[in-house]
Amino acid sequence: MTDIRWGILAPGNIAHSFTQDLRTAGLDVAAVGSRRLDAARAFAAEFDIPHAYGSYEELVADPEVDIVYVASPHSHHRDQAILALEAGKHVLIEKAVTLDAAEAAEIREAARSRGLLAMEAMWTRYLPHMIRIRELIAEGAIGEVRTLFADHTQSLPTDPGHRLNALELGGGALLDLGIYPVSFAVDILGLVADTRATGRLSETGADTEVAISLAHDGGAVSSLVTSSRAQGPNVAHILGTDGRIEIDRVWYTPTSFRLIGRDGAVALDYRSEVEGRGMQFQALYAEDLIRAGRTDSDLLPFDESIAIMAVLDDIRAQVGVVYPSAR
Ligand SMILES: NC(=O)c1ccc[n+]([C@@H]2O[C@H](COP(=O)([O-])OP(=O)(O)OC[C@H]3O[C@@H](n4cnc5c(N)ncnc54)[C@H](OP(=O)(O)O)[C@@H]3O)[C@@H](O)[C@H]2O)c1
Repeated sequence: MTDIRWGILAPGNIAHSFTQDLRTAGLDVAAVGSRRLDAARAFAAEFDIPHAYGSYEELVADPEVDIVYVASPHSHHRDQAILALEAGKHVLIEKAVTLDAAEAAEIREAARSRGLLAMEAMWTRYLPHMIRIRELIAEGAIGEVRTLFADHTQSLPTDPGHRLNALELGGGALLDLGIYPVSFAVDILGLVADTRATGRLSETGADTEVAISLAHDGGAVSSLVTSSRAQGPNVAHILGTDGRIEIDRVWYTPTSFRLIGRDGAVALDYRSEVEGRGMQFQALYAEDLIRAGRTDSDLLPFDESIAIMAVLDDIRAQVGVVYPSAR
C-alpha cells in the first residue's frame, strides 16, 4: 500500500487496462464506482479492491480515495471530474479531457479554486520513449525540427450505437484517436497557429476519417491523419535539419525508435522495455505531483490540454461534426 489511494470511476474497457497497470506498478486502488453496483462489485473482485459503490457520488465521497480516475465516455468527463473535485479529490481524466475547450476550462476553474490536481490521461506523453525523444530534440540531435507526420488509424466497431459512432457520447475518430497525433504535434512542435482539416462522416454524423495540417507557433508544420474504419501503420516521423526520428508502430504505445543522421546512418536504435500496457507512468507522475503539492503537470499542463481541445473544436467545425450538447 502507498500513501496515495486511487478511485476508479466508470469501470469499463480502458479502466480495466489502467487498473491492471496500477497493480503492476504496485499502486493502491482503494475503491471503484459504477452506475451499477453489480458492475462495481465484479470489478472490485477482479482487482481485489476493498470498496465497491453503485454510484459515482458514493465513490467521490469515500475518505479513503485521494485521486479519481475518470474513465467514462468524453461526454461525461466534465460533470464527473467536477463532481470529484467538489468532493475534494484530485482527478486524472481520460482523453479527450472533455467534449470541447469550454468544458475543459470549467474543470480547470474547479481544480484551481480548490488547489487540486487536474490532469488529462494522455498517457503517451509520459512513456519512456517519448521522454527520451524530447531529450534528444532538446539536445539538438536532429537539428532544427521542421515538420512531423503521424497517423492513428484503427478498424473499430461500425455499430451506430457504439460510443465511437454516437454523437451524444462524443463519438468520432478525432476525439478518440486523432487527439493522439494532434497532442503529439503540439508536444514536439508547439502550440497551433493555423488549422486546416478535411474529413469524412459516418451515417450518424460522427467523423470516421480526418486529414489535418497544422502550422505551429515558431513556423513548423505537421501532417496528421486519423481513421476509425481502416487500420494503418500507426507510425510517427519527426524531421529536422540534421536528421530524423522514426517511431515504430504503435508510436503512441511503448515502442522502439531510430535516430537517423543526415547521412542516412542509424545513430541510435532505442528499444522500449516496459511492463504492462504502459498506463502506469502517468499515474506515477500524478502521484509525484500530489506529494510535491503541485496541481499541474509539466509534461502536459492543463492549459495545453485546453489549447488542444480548441484545435479539435476548430477541426470539427471544418469537417462538420456537431455534438448535440453544442446545438
Ligand atoms: N488511454 C487509452 O488508451 C484509451 C483507450 C480507450 C478509451 N479511452 C478513453 O476512455 C474513455 C472510456 O472509453 P471506454 O472504451 O473504456 O468506454 P466504455 O467501456 O464504453 O465505457 C466506460 C464506462 O463509462 C460508462 N458508460 C458507458 N456508456 C455510458 C453512457 N451511455 N452513459 C453514461 N456512462 C456510460 C460505464 O460505466 P458504469 O460502469 O458506471 O456504467 C462504462 O463502463 C473515453 O474517454 C476514451 O476516449 C482511452
